Amino acid sequence: MQEKILILDFGGQYNQLIARRVRECRVYCELHPCTMTMEEIRAFDPAGIIFTGGPNSVYETGSPQVDPAVFTLGVPVLGICYGCQLMAMHLGGTVSAAQSDVAREYGRTPTRFDSDCALFRDLPEESVTWMSHGDYISVMPAGFRSAARSAACPTAAICDESRRFYGVQFHPEVRHTERGADMLRRFLYDICGLHGTWTMGSYKDAAIADIRARVGEGKVLLALSGGVDSSVCAALLAEAVGERLTCVFVDHGLLRKDEGDEVEAAFSRWNIRLIRVNARERFLACLAGAEEPEEKRKRIGEEFIRVFEEEGKKIGSVDYLAQGTIYPDVIESGAGNASVIKSHHNVGGLPDFVDFREIIEPLRLLFKDEVRALGRELGLPDYLVDRQPFPGPGLAIRVLGEVTENKLCLLREADAIFRQEVAAGGVDASQYFAVLTDARSVGVMGDGRTYGYVLALRAVTTDDFMTADWTRLPYEVLDQASRRIVNEVPNISRVVYDITAKPPATVEWE
Ligand code: XMP
Repeated sequence: MQEKILILDFGGQYNQLIARRVRECRVYCELHPCTMTMEEIRAFDPAGIIFTGGPNSVYETGSPQVDPAVFTLGVPVLGICYGCQLMAMHLGGTVSAAQSDVAREYGRTPTRFDSDCALFRDLPEESVTWMSHGDYISVMPAGFRSAARSAACPTAAICDESRRFYGVQFHPEVRHTERGADMLRRFLYDICGLHGTWTMGSYKDAAIADIRARVGEGKVLLALSGGVDSSVCAALLAEAVGERLTCVFVDHGLLRKDEGDEVEAAFSRWNIRLIRVNARERFLACLAGAEEPEEKRKRIGEEFIRVFEEEGKKIGSVDYLAQGTIYPDVIESGAGNASVIKSHHNVGGLPDFVDFREIIEPLRLLFKDEVRALGRELGLPDYLVDRQPFPGPGLAIRVLGEVTENKLCLLREADAIFRQEVAAGGVDASQYFAVLTDARSVGVMGDGRTYGYVLALRAVTTDDFMTADWTRLPYEVLDQASRRIVNEVPNISRVVYDITAKPPATVEWE
């Protein structure tokens, strides 16, 4: 891959959005911790570097730093917010805490731009930007000039065009910055000289070549769940290594109603070697006594690996375990400077020791919608590519608290009813499911008192599952689902609908 952008991560909350926006410009990029060494940066060979924002002040002890040698590479740099201040500091400027006359800025801010700066060329002289900063550049580094200003900040953007260094105090990656996408495009195409040639077709070819180079004549075992990610991974690996691929589908008893049979049926239509392992009792036993979400995730992650190791030994000489890990799993499991949100079972949930020579994750750098595009590129049918995501730990993280077979049975039935009703209502939601809470509530049925579980329904609308809004389901759909669930599923006395976005919530409850 020739055209690559390196994004150095200083811990900002919008970092993955920067990566998305760059990829939307058809430019390949990777987000790496700011501690990346110069040797690693040179080996990456970026055509341009973007510094992200971050929560710290640049002079604070322990604040994330970058090796200043990065400014001698001759590569264009775009610093965003903290990244802009850090660049200014390293190149001889001064960063100060905002005073009352030069106020902190948060939110939508009218900003004026110099359209002779390459970053803002042919863009309106005034537009709204999204600011979120308490510090600002009070003394410009030598060679730089101010290229944008707001009422409160005289250095809303800075540039040294001879060295191709640019910095913006606002966040161009956030949609509220009206012309942010255009500014990123200016940086990538005009300043870094890129052409936007990165497509899923080119990713597919590169990924297949990479898998072949790593695996050689070795055998690969793929952890297949039947979800979008592992299905796309199966198709990619099948193309790369052919018959040396075996897919192992672990029926851990935490699947939705009839799901095990459906997955087996879908894959038996393909020319792929599939083993279905029945491990229901084993997983239930390993979950006994576990109530805390991270503990449940970790126990399931470990048990999965043990099953794969056993299956690998049965096949013999399997060196590689493949997983359909995708980028949000990596980021939310605490890669780089991001904080751990939850241990997605195939990343943070992995045990310390895994008895395979290597784990290969060909989708590790892709967002969900990119995985779907790759699936289409590989010729997968829509019913597999458009499936809703289903988490690896399955219903174990939708039965809150301790998991028992009885609770799983209730959830399976209630979830199936909800999904039927949403589908029948023709509603467009990205993911919808039921959650069995640990709470009980009193009800009245017939002439008697009931005391059963509270069931929560969740439906979300999102492109990439990194952020999501709750879906405005029609009342009729909710009404029909609620009536049927309370009537048809014993021991559920009340149904509630979750109306929380991500953030501040997450999609799953655990
Ligand atoms: P959260 O709850 O993190 O979910 O907002 C975002 C998306 O990821 C799915 N999810 C998982 N997928 N392994 C997976 O393969 C996991 O451990 C896992 N946890 C959450 C979730 O269903 C949603 O689509």
